[in-house]
Amino acid sequence: MKTDINFTVNGEAVREAIEPRTSLADVLRDNLSLTGTHLGCEMGACGACLVLLDGAPVHACLVLAVQVAGQKIETIEGLNNSGLVADLQEQFHDRNALQCGFCTSGMLMSAHALLSQNSMPSRPEIRDALSGNYCRCTGYEAIVDAISATAERRSKIVEGVQ
Ligand code: FES
Ligand code: FES
Repeated sequence: MKTDINFTVNGEAVREAIEPRTSLADVLRDNLSLTGTHLGCEMGACGACLVLLDGAPVHACLVLAVQVAGQKIETIEGLNNSGLVADLQEQFHDRNALQCGFCTSGMLMSAHALLSQNSMPSRPEIRDALSGNYCRCTGYEAIVDAISATAERRSKIVEGVQ
């Protein structure tokens, strides 16, 4: 039997009738056509499905949609449209930190969450923050470079150097 749930996705109120066993990832992708949230392992291991739940990254494959009733979800589409990760995206592009791109939305989610908490992370801290994100193309070094360069650039903007 389907249940009605109300929640917010990328700032917009959503009401969906869903089976209680449906994952948040499936609702985002299948009901709302937000296919930037990728599904890789569907068991919380790869990080391709990361979304922000009230600002904190969560695995959308492990969260039941009914659990987010009344809460705020942000997906890669929301971060992209707001421009909040535009500089990260630019660095990923410039440094070849994406190959097939399957892991990229999850990587950007982790990077955004990290830089929101720690504006100048060390490379080990970046690696630690990405430890739950798998890149099957193994482009980790370039991804760490891109995140580190973004942090550097942001700090220069704050200091008024650029
Ligand atoms: S699909 Fe959710 S962690 Fe892999
Ligand atoms: S770029 Fe292909 S999985 Fe990461």
